[in-house]
Amino acid sequence: MKITVVGAGNVGATCADVLAQREVANEIVLVDIKEGLAEGKALDIWQKSPINLYDSRTIGATNDYSKSANSDVVVITSGLPRKPGMSRDDLISTNAGIVKSVTENVIKHSPNAIVIVVSNPLDVMTYQAHLTSKLPRTRVMGMAGILDTARYRAFLADALNISPKDIQAMLLGGHGDTMVPLPRYTTVSGIPVTELIDKDKLNAILERTKVGGGELVKLMGTSAWYAPGAAAAQMVEAIVKDQRRIFPVCIKLEGEYGINDCYLGVPVVLGKNGIEKIIELDLNEDEKALMEASRKAVREVMDVLDKLA
Ligand code: NAI
Ligand code: 2OP
Repeated sequence: MKITVVGAGNVGATCADVLAQREVANEIVLVDIKEGLAEGKALDIWQKSPINLYDSRTIGATNDYSKSANSDVVVITSGLPRKPGMSRDDLISTNAGIVKSVTENVIKHSPNAIVIVVSNPLDVMTYQAHLTSKLPRTRVMGMAGILDTARYRAFLADALNISPKDIQAMLLGGHGDTMVPLPRYTTVSGIPVTELIDKDKLNAILERTKVGGGELVKLMGTSAWYAPGAAAAQMVEAIVKDQRRIFPVCIKLEGEYGINDCYLGVPVVLGKNGIEKIIELDLNEDEKALMEASRKAVREVMDVLDKLA
């Protein structure tokens, strides 16, 4: 198995490190446009192998996609985080240009890869990668839901003073303030979370989750990487090992949830073919309204991308 991670910055390097540590593939290639960065980080991860005991090889390349040839899975993390003074449209056009050129290079050398997008704005960059790669929708997906539910589960673990291992959660919608966490589908070792926490506390946790990315940007002056990198690696592992795990993943909806032609997070089964199945939950009226608000928000940004083309 061979995996390529494009972008050797904070998220990409963390993802490669987790993949190596978990021995998800025997070859992990890091590619970045910045001279020497990918080579340096790949070498550093490889030099950690005798200490942490793994034998996945990490290889770095500066903009040389021939090194990524025949990858089974490619993770795209290249792109700028939003900076002061940058409009939303500026960010879309900059990152869309990066994701487009990276996807072209990736597909040229790995036409059968499964592509996982991490770059922001996530749902719309997944759209860009899908447009450019022309792969079936089941082979181009975005990572956001695992991260967003992880934040939600971590906050709940704190509030309940229990292990995060025992908290299961599902979430729908776009990666932004309109994401739709689903308390009705949140359990703690099988116990509905609503039996363990009062409504006001749970609502406060849901609101904190929606702005969880922003909370970290405020603290660090840049966006998070440990949880995002690990979340992308978890998706890769589910695919490479054909685990058929159920995660919230961004995919193009074609009628599911009554939505057409929009990229949103929904529960899916992840296995060797990428998205093996989309799970349609029976939403109540409130949840449907929240999903519609999220669809509108993502569609607006997709429209900006369409106008740029
Ligand atoms: P970073 O700035 O640390 O790394 C980005 C890397 O991409 C840099 O090393 C840069 O040289 C590289 N790059 C830029 N253009 C490139 C090109 N054309 N080809 C190859 N490499 C190129 O940023 P970080 O923190 O790793 O974040 C990466 C992206 O992931 C951002 O867009 C960020 O907003 C997004 N993100 C998404 C999350 C999600 O849940 N989907 C969570 C966290 C970050
Ligand atoms: C995050 O949620 C900014 O998308 C990034 O951390």
